[in-house]
Formats: sequence, structure tokens, C-alpha cells
Amino acid sequence: MKNFITIEGTEGVGKSTQVRFLQEYCKKNGIDAVFTREPGGSKVAEKIREIILDKNNGEMSDVCEAFLYAAARAQHLKDIVIPALNEGKIVFCDRYIDSSYAYQGVGRGLGLDFVKKLNDLAIGDYMPQYTVFLDLPPEQAFKRKGGADENDRLEMSGNEFFQKVYDGYKQTIQNDKSRFIVVSPTGTKFETHDKIVAALKEKGIF
Ligand code: TYD
Repeated sequence: MKNFITIEGTEGVGKSTQVRFLQEYCKKNGIDAVFTREPGGSKVAEKIREIILDKNNGEMSDVCEAFLYAAARAQHLKDIVIPALNEGKIVFCDRYIDSSYAYQGVGRGLGLDFVKKLNDLAIGDYMPQYTVFLDLPPEQAFKRKGGADENDRLEMSGNEFFQKVYDGYKQTIQNDKSRFIVVSPTGTKFETHDKIVAALKEKGIF
């Protein structure tokens, strides 16, 4: 979908910082953009987010988890993404369907086909035009971040899980190469920002 841009990466790659920098860039340059995030981003979707990330919900099945992400996605699309795109805005979404491919499809082992079927129902035609992937292997990302967040059910899943998630992103990129803007965040955060802006200019988004 034109002007729908998503940002993806495993934990600790500096995604939040880059999203913030992009937001500041848009503001400074008078670019009419909406910034939002998944899971959550609107009232009902935030309630679903709380259920998903609650560390007391340890017994949640992988299938249930995948459906809840897809449900939150459908709601957030309706509430935030579609109205903004219809108003001619650029929409930047922090995580979207590729997180489900990577985390539920490969991390949890449900398979990419399962995630595709489920999400086709949830999102219809609303695939991102471009997806920025911050590409850092999990062992490097965790080192930078200083370990996992013990209050987050997803982050308590262990290193092996995050390696699978990273592999999941790599497989997803292989399946849809032209959509992805792969950026290695190994330089300073300002260098990474410049790379992202340059790529978005080249694609005609900025
Ligand atoms: P959040 O605290 O927003 O993480 P981050 O700052 O890393 O974006 O938590 C979102 C968590 O949900 C994160 O661990 C990734 C996970 N997730 C999925 O497993 N599947 C999905 O479809 C989405 C959108 C997120």
C-alpha cells in the first residue's frame, strides 16, 4: 500500500531510537506523517497488547498468541492506519506483519504459511509499501541492550528463540526482497538514521 512504511528488527537493535529520529525528521521537514506502533496503537488494540505481553499469561498457546497479534493488527489498521492513508499521510508503523512472520511463524514454529493465511484475513490488501529492517544478529543486539527485560513475556523467551526470530526475518526478506530496505545499525545512531533517510529518499517516500 502506497505510503505505508513499517520498521522491523529484533530486540535491542535501536528501533525505538530510529523511529523517534524519523519522527523528528518529518516534523523538521514539514512531512505529513503519522507514527504508530504494534501491537497496540489504539484503544482496543492496546488492551489486546496488555494480554499478549502480560508475564502472568505464561500458559498462552502459540496459536492464541498469533491470533491476538492479528486481531490487534486488524483493529489498529481500521482505527489508525487506513484513516491516515486515506488522508494522504505517510504512515510509519513500528512493527507489523513481518514481526508475526519472524516471532510466531519461525520463533514459535507455527510456519510462514500459517501466519500468511491468518494475516491475509486480518489485513486484506494492506501490505507495507516498504519495510525498513534493522539488521543486527541477536547476540550483538542483546549485548548493546544489556540483557532481556524481565517484565516482558516475549523478552523472557531466551536466546535460542531470538536466533530463530532473526532467521525468520531473513527468510521473510528472501521471500519479498523488493519490499525491504535492509540497514545495518552498526555505526552510530546518527549514521543509521542518515542511511534510512537516504533509502527513503531514493524510494521516493521523502
Ligand atoms: P514492544 O515492547 O513493543 O517491543 P519492541 O520495543 O521491541 O518493539 O513489544 C512488542 C513485542 O511483541 C516484541 O517482543 C515483538 C512482539 N511481536 C510479535 O511477536 N509478533 C507481532 O506480530 C508483533 C507486532 C510483535
